[in-house]
Amino acid sequence: MRTPLIAGNWKMNGSASLVEDFGRAFAEKSFPASLDVVILPPFPYLDAARRAFDGTRLRLGAQTLNPLHSGARTGEVSGRMLKEFGVEFALVGHSERRQLYREDDAAVYDRLLAALNTDITPILCVGETLEERDAGKTMDVVLRQVGYVMARLEPEQRTRIAIAYEPVWAIGTGRTATPDQAQEVMAGIREYQASFDRDLAAGMRLLYGGSMNADNAAELLAQPDIDGGLVGGASLKVDDFLAICQSAG
Ligand code: G3P
Repeated sequence: MRTPLIAGNWKMNGSASLVEDFGRAFAEKSFPASLDVVILPPFPYLDAARRAFDGTRLRLGAQTLNPLHSGARTGEVSGRMLKEFGVEFALVGHSERRQLYREDDAAVYDRLLAALNTDITPILCVGETLEERDAGKTMDVVLRQVGYVMARLEPEQRTRIAIAYEPVWAIGTGRTATPDQAQEVMAGIREYQASFDRDLAAGMRLLYGGSMNADNAAELLAQPDIDGGLVGGASLKVDDFLAICQSAG
């Protein structure tokens, strides 16, 4: 049985007061027992979040990390540093990192490996552009991104990752993939994982991201191969994010 996971990717948004708001709200409200809830704030808020979330079910994640433990990488943050702030999860390969910071599959793999090597659970982000979908290349693109990583990992390492399918055309657009569209791709990812190991496929958490909100979350999360959500805009609104978490049970 896969434990549902809802992760809120704040991107370059939020504030110290929003951190406090989330800490208070998640201390007061209840939601399904078997659910992992992660907030991925911008780096400057990690320490405040660790303190504000203490005693709640909220866990911490990072939006990226550098492959090195330390060194001459101005502006970068390492997995070791993130662990000092209680970070347990990290996105790798988010489409904004791939597009805006030119992270190719090799760069994504290096970051994923760095996360594994510092005992941080990587959430590998994959997804196609609208042009690729319209050209019928969705699974080619998604399985290329997944396959690049899976082919290079050891069997044990493969069991320690999660995957987020985020169609690029649904991110920040309000144009959510339909439950059927999301389920089709995620079933294809799980089938691909089964080619390595059936237990690996059965146990891997697959998340959907791309305009998930309080209104559409329940239907998306009801799909057999969708084990959670990677939420952007709706994760900046406490009530909406709470509603998404409460529909994940
Ligand atoms: O990482 C999650 C993000 O890319 C989705 O953003 O605003 O479409 O939920 P949004």
